[in-house]
Amino acid sequence: MAAAVSRRRSKPPGSGGGTGTESAPANGHTPVLLDSVIAALDPRTGAVYVDGTLGGAGYTKALLSAADCIVWGIDRDPDAIARNSDLAAQYAGRLHLVEGRFGDMQTLLADRGLNAVDGVTLDLGVSSMQIDDPARGFAFSQDGPLDMRMEKAGQSAADLVNSVEETELADIIYAYGEERLSRRIARAIVAARAEAPIETTGRLADIVRAVATPRKRSRKRPDNKIDPATRTFQALRIQVNDELAELERGLG
Ligand SMILES: C[S@@+](CC[C@H](N)C(=O)[O-])C[C@H]1O[C@@H](n2cnc3c(N)ncnc32)[C@H](O)[C@@H]1O
Repeated sequence: MAAAVSRRRSKPPGSGGGTGTESAPANGHTPVLLDSVIAALDPRTGAVYVDGTLGGAGYTKALLSAADCIVWGIDRDPDAIARNSDLAAQYAGRLHLVEGRFGDMQTLLADRGLNAVDGVTLDLGVSSMQIDDPARGFAFSQDGPLDMRMEKAGQSAADLVNSVEETELADIIYAYGEERLSRRIARAIVAARAEAPIETTGRLADIVRAVATPRKRSRKRPDNKIDPATRTFQALRIQVNDELAELERGLG
């Protein structure tokens, strides 16, 4: 999901106020709705923008090349910040990188002497760099450690699936994955972890696939065709990264 809000020198989100938004599914490194987002931000000479989900810097690069403006790029993933250090050097004085959460945007920027900006963009979800790296543990299509932490700190997806009670696990899978087989999946996870802790994406995906086969779903439902593990992985990622609370804080 992508969203952009452009204002004339107003306080960044987190300090109150509404937003103008557009949205579409996040689908990796090529930023969604690039033209619409840049049009909404309306890059101008001397203006200051915040890319609150820097990732592969698709929006940031477009802003920097569209006008002689300044961009503050925020990402909670240390890898995303490191990956863009060359870009920051290329745009020295115009691109500033900040490792942190967009929910803390107001404080992060105020600490750096910035109290008003001209526009903010958020492109929610995970980047293709995160999904494509099995070591980050987001993907069910490749085996890797069951991690899913954008920040590389805190409770991992493995910590979660190996510790929470069955009913809580089912609630998470239902609420954040809209998975109607959540109770069956939670039961299977709890049974599997009693045999051995679930530590890899591959094992978790297999556990889910075994009980949430397309046969168990209505033939009429569109998600009959997606990998049965999709919704469970999405739910765990949202829970591990506290994504909805982050969004509320970011837009608050
Ligand atoms: C969909 S990608 C952004 C892609 C980016 N627009 C581009 O052009 O490459 C989402 C990025 O936002 C970061 N992210 C997600 N939630 C965040 C948060 N609450 N605060 C800061 N960064 C966040 C992720 O680490 C990831 O790098």
